[in-house]
Amino acid sequence: MNELAGKHILLGLTGGIACYKAADLCRALIKQGATVQVVMTQAAAQFITPVTMQALSQRPVYDSQWDSRADNNMLHITLSRAADACLIAPASADFMAKLVQGRADDLLSLLCLARPLARLPLLLAPAMNREMWAHPATQRNVAQLLADGATVLPVGQGEQACGETGDGRMLEALELLDELLAFFQPKTLVGQHVLITAGPTYEAIDPVRGITNLSSGKMGFALARAAREAGAQVSLVAGPVSLDTPRGVQRWNVRSADEMLAAVNQEIASATVFIACAAVADWRPAAAMAQKIKKTPTGLPPAIEFVENPDILATVAQSERGRSGALYCVGFAAESHDLLAQTQAKRVRKGVPLLVGNIGPDTFGRDDNALLLVDADGSSELPRNAKLVLARQLITEIAHRIGVGARS
Ligand code: CTP
Repeated sequence: MNELAGKHILLGLTGGIACYKAADLCRALIKQGATVQVVMTQAAAQFITPVTMQALSQRPVYDSQWDSRADNNMLHITLSRAADACLIAPASADFMAKLVQGRADDLLSLLCLARPLARLPLLLAPAMNREMWAHPATQRNVAQLLADGATVLPVGQGEQACGETGDGRMLEALELLDELLAFFQPKTLVGQHVLITAGPTYEAIDPVRGITNLSSGKMGFALARAAREAGAQVSLVAGPVSLDTPRGVQRWNVRSADEMLAAVNQEIASATVFIACAAVADWRPAAAMAQKIKKTPTGLPPAIEFVENPDILATVAQSERGRSGALYCVGFAAESHDLLAQTQAKRVRKGVPLLVGNIGPDTFGRDDNALLLVDADGSSELPRNAKLVLARQLITEIAHRIGVGARS
């Protein structure tokens, strides 16, 4: 996806070993359709050359306010007026201290100070040794930068270039890309707690076999990401899938429908939106065998008795908060035919204000989908698109329906 098409990003590099990640970041931004203008401090040029960054960004790199290449010789004005966002990655402890003081003795700090506050957002990706990060002076500076309107991205945790282990690593290039993409999304769900179920469930027959389905979890994970991007607190209860947890999302891994219901029950009291996207197995074996079921000389297959699983969505929707509307419940319907009629009937049966229909065989495992939104007033379609795009559209719809977000 060309998610940054039309966006012009000012990528600032300050002195730190994490400059090597800025090369990848620059490529990732361009791959998403952005144009990237790199500005480096003298210290950054000790870690990575302007030549490398010029080749990757396909533009001249600036590292001095005295650079006469700009027609008006006022690079700090020209560069800061042209960009949609200024991302400093890495942001060193020293550079953040400079920003706090409003100092402007090099091109990058100068253009940060000269930027139109209301128009050019400033994002900082700190990178430093763990002691420097934890130092009260740095933490004071972070607090001041936040108060001054900057966005200070989280730091990573782990082994550092200096050999120590702790907080202060710069996020990886693709994590920074996700942070930037999230930054550009409308914040329609701030203050909401969204609880989402995703993926299949697995119902054990014996220790080595079970019943599951073809759900990949991609739609539910895309919804978790989109809800987080919209500013919500997000809890994701995931069946057995091997997908990465979206940034900033709290994940619970479960296997069976019973475990999924238990995890949902842990979170539901504080949730304001519940989205049941999981393909929950309708039945489970009445008793899972403790030992592997062996073939018998008769050649007859084992008789497996089934019991119905709890209906998680219906249970939540029928709770007091579900019925009163304090908790807005959204279900999914995975059908193979008669999508509109099946989705309408299922919405009434489940007792939810909004049910989202999709054709299971056309979406399971794929990166795209098409959705049919059915509520009490009728239906509308979200035409086939990438699951992340659909997820963002659905989150906007939900925000609109609960009256907290403007329809974009
Ligand atoms: N669901 C649930 N718990 C279940 C079964 C379904 O929470 N035990 C939720 C799903 O997450 C989805 C919705 O109910 O949001 C509809 O699921 P679906 O499998 O399409 O419908 P079923 O209720 O299972 O009905 P049927 O299989 O007869 O179509």
